[in-house]
Amino acid sequence: MNKILLGSIITLIVIIAISFIYMSSGIYNLSATKPHMKVTESAIHIMKGKSIKANSKNIEVPNLDDKNLVLNGYEGYDAMCVTCHAAPGKSASVIADGLYPPPPELNNKEIYEEWNEKELFWIIKNGIKLTGMPAYGPTHSDEDLWAIVAFLNRLPVMTEKEYKEMGEENKNIKDGYHRGDVNQENVHIHKDGKKHVH
Ligand code: HEC
Repeated sequence: MNKILLGSIITLIVIIAISFIYMSSGIYNLSATKPHMKVTESAIHIMKGKSIKANSKNIEVPNLDDKNLVLNGYEGYDAMCVTCHAAPGKSASVIADGLYPPPPELNNKEIYEEWNEKELFWIIKNGIKLTGMPAYGPTHSDEDLWAIVAFLNRLPVMTEKEYKEMGEENKNIKDGYHRGDVNQENVHIHKDGKKHVH
């Protein structure tokens, strides 16, 4: 019995020593152009799913069915996410082409089969460690981030034309703010769901 214990301890020490030599030798290539081995990729994928689901499970989802919120979310998405995740009628930038893991296009239904609203909020707020996905929590309020989730709810079925129209609607309202003839209280939503300024 003691021999088995001693054997296990020696094996463990040898494994730790080999790992240490490997890590400090510089053999491992950290280049973003060298994909992980399939087994490492699967392990990271499983850990990512479990971690995001466990950490987001107690988040409470506010009402996201609000056209005004969706419009604010459009603004955030267009300014902060298109570079990496593209949008209907807009490609991602060269930054996205060089990232590993690659950022997925977010106007794809499969994304929303994998992640629910809590999980999307968590991802945007916290980012994903050791990938190019930034955390927006340190710089943005929860309300701004929920607005982006509200926008993402519409994104997979959004056409290029609708995306453009949202941009124009948002710009008209913002131009009003800049001229000083509009303030937040003057903007309201009609029954047809359109955002109006009076
Ligand atoms: C600098 C590039 C970059 C920017 C900007 C960026 N992301 Fe990401 N994002 C990534 C990368 C890379 C991943 C993939 C991470 C991975 O595979 O684990 C990712 C993953 C995600 C995912 C999870 C999708 C999945 O299945 O892996 C969501 C949701 C997401 N981003 C939303 C956003 C939103 C919303 C914004 C803007 C507020 C944003 N991202 C801005 C690079 C970016």
